Amino acid sequence: MKARLDEVMEKRRSIRTLERDSRITRETVEKAIGLARHAPSAYNAQTSRLVVLMNEEHGKFWDIAEKELRLVTPPDAFARTQKKLDGFRGGNGTVLFYEDAAETEKLKQDFPLYADKFDAWAQHNNAILEYAVWLAFAEREIASSLQHYNPLVDADAAKEWDIPESWVLVAQMPFGRAAEEPGLRTFKPLDEIVKFYG
Ligand SMILES: Cc1cc2nc3c(=O)[nH]c(=O)nc-3n(C[C@H](O)[C@H](O)[C@H](O)COP(=O)(O)O)c2cc1C
Repeated sequence: MKARLDEVMEKRRSIRTLERDSRITRETVEKAIGLARHAPSAYNAQTSRLVVLMNEEHGKFWDIAEKELRLVTPPDAFARTQKKLDGFRGGNGTVLFYEDAAETEKLKQDFPLYADKFDAWAQHNNAILEYAVWLAFAEREIASSLQHYNPLVDADAAKEWDIPESWVLVAQMPFGRAAEEPGLRTFKPLDEIVKFYG
C-alpha cells in the first residue's frame, strides 16, 4: 500500500483555473500553513514570511496585478492575460510568500563564514516552504499554483497590506477549488537525472 505522502506528492499539481469553495475556510488554510512550518530552513532561521489574502482582499491583489499588467501588455494580447488572472481571482485566496531580507543580513553578520551563501539559502528556504504549503493544500483538496507577478505588484501590495520594508516578495500562490483538470505530467527518465553508485 502506498504511503499517504506518496499520494499527496502525486496529487499536487499546478491548478490555475479556480473556483470559490465555501469549505475552504481561514481555519483550514491556517492548519495547512501551520503544518508547512515543519519545512526546514538554513540554521532554522525561518526567514520566510507569509501574507494570506482571502475573499475581497484576495480580489484586491488580482486587481493590482491586472492594473500593473495592463501597463506592460499590448492591448490585443491582454485577453489571454485577463483569462489567466480571472482563473486565479476565481479562487478563495492567495498566499504571498516573502523573504525577510533583514533576517538574512543578520545571519550574514552572525556567520561570516557563510555570508556569501545566505542569499541563495533564503531562496531555498522560501522554495521549500512554498512546496510544503502546496502539499498541505493538496492534501486538503485545496487546488493551487505558483505565480510570480513580483516585482510588478510589490509596491502596491506593500502599501495595501502594510508590508515591512525588509520583506521581499518571492512568489504568489492563488488557491481554491479546481475548475480545470491538469494536463498529463511528463517526467525525464530517472537515469537522465540521477547517477547511482554502489
Ligand atoms: C520555481 C518555480 C517557478 C514557477 N513559476 C510559475 C509561474 O510563474 N507561473 C505558473 O503558472 N507556474 C509556475 N510554476 C509551475 C510549474 O510550471 C509547474 O510546477 C511544472 O510545470 C510542473 O507541473 P505541475 O505543478 O502541475 O506538476 C513554477 C514552478 C516552480 C517550481
